[in-house]
Amino acid sequence: MSEGKNITLENLVSLCKRRGFVFPSSEIYGGFAAVYDFGPYGAELAKNIRETWWKAMVYDHENIVGLDSAIFMHPKVWEASGHVGGFSDPLAECKECHTRVRVDHLLEEAGVFADEKMSEEEINTLFDAKRAMITCPKCGKQCFSEAKKFNLLVKSNLGSFTEDWTKEPAYLRGETCQGIYINFKNVIDSSRVKVPFGIAQIGKAFRNEITARQFIFRKREFEQMEMQYFVHPDTAAETYEQWREKRFRFYTDILGLKKENIRWHQHENLVFYAKAAWDIEYRYPFGFCEMEGVHNRSDYDLTQHAKFSGVDLSYRDPQTNEKYVPWIVETSVGLERMFLAVLTDAYTEEPIGENEMRVVLKFPKKLAPVKIAVFPLLKNKPELVAQARAIYETLASEWHCEFDDNGNVGKRYRRQDEIGTPYCVTVDFDTLGQGENKSLEGTVTVRDRDTMEQIRVSINELQKYFSENLK
Ligand code: GAP
Repeated sequence: MSEGKNITLENLVSLCKRRGFVFPSSEIYGGFAAVYDFGPYGAELAKNIRETWWKAMVYDHENIVGLDSAIFMHPKVWEASGHVGGFSDPLAECKECHTRVRVDHLLEEAGVFADEKMSEEEINTLFDAKRAMITCPKCGKQCFSEAKKFNLLVKSNLGSFTEDWTKEPAYLRGETCQGIYINFKNVIDSSRVKVPFGIAQIGKAFRNEITARQFIFRKREFEQMEMQYFVHPDTAAETYEQWREKRFRFYTDILGLKKENIRWHQHENLVFYAKAAWDIEYRYPFGFCEMEGVHNRSDYDLTQHAKFSGVDLSYRDPQTNEKYVPWIVETSVGLERMFLAVLTDAYTEEPIGENEMRVVLKFPKKLAPVKIAVFPLLKNKPELVAQARAIYETLASEWHCEFDDNGNVGKRYRRQDEIGTPYCVTVDFDTLGQGENKSLEGTVTVRDRDTMEQIRVSINELQKYFSENLK
């Protein structure tokens, strides 16, 4: 992590609550740690992000197909994947203030790497050697308990009708890609894909994260957008580089994130089966942190599932007749991390006039939750309202629009700026031919979110105008 931008996380959290992007879950009951709900505008933004990712991964690639596998899978899936045995974080508690911290994170800050595969004993040896350098991030004391490993998989009693279900739990999936691996054969047998090809999926994942911090960056219930690309072992390294490039370009060219806010980070310590692992990091308000992982996972996943299920998951090339277990190049990103990056990038505070400031979310238009807001200048003039409603109804058949007649126009602009609406349309007396400038009859004001410039557009031309400008 390094220095964040000037935007504080508090600014974003407050805007998200105030304008209905993100709410803490179960707030009326005091909240539920590391779980959040998307409000009306957040749900729209999340939908637009999902659609943009899906188009870039599935529709723009002839050889990538989609999948929507179940959250629950056979418990053996998680044994085969290594999650039951190894998916855990080492945790210690400050004996003074009872704050729980991840020991691997504390060690990393002290310049030591703790591998996921290390036993509790090995981690405690490292921890003990560094204790003199490590203080509690909350109270500053140096009195941590021993490190204990906590498995991150979330357990459930699905399908178990005994009291003792914890002995044979069904897990809520810890990552969506396992649903892809176990359907590899089904997809091959039912569609016309041939290696190299990819399977993409968007769906919920669940992890018992120990530290609940940084807003929606680290959640216990979150959504992943993952694509697993199956290749011949000989081409895996080259394909991996191609996907690295494509995924970076997705952020700059398609999502429009500022180049200075994204960068690569290479994993130096790889898990034993990984051949390469790089993260795309985004500069969140709390510093550069992982947004997406791009991994060369070798033949580990299919080999493991073949071993545990007893089903042959190798592939026979129809042209050469060669039989092999495909290698996998994975791209994996959390929807919420992309959402937070889009929000951070868009968040702008700028002066208007001498003493006023405005907050504006300068989203790329395709991601904006609302595309056009339509206002009558005054709410108590029925002719203005009727004309504005007629325009709203026509535009709403094509774009997500809002009708607003609350307060004055200035206030309505501020509100639309804060939810990132690219255009506002105002019907005034000139529109009706009742103003001073008769030549403006039949036209409305269209105000641009970013420049705040206002132009007059004929009502008959509005659809054409927005078709051209909302691409
Ligand atoms: N299939 C590989 C995998 O799951 P990961 O690094 O554990 O790898 C991939 O997770 C991505 O999922 C991360 O880069 C991040 O964007 C997202 N992610 C992971 N844990 C998360 C959490 N607790 N909250 C939100 N997003 C998370």
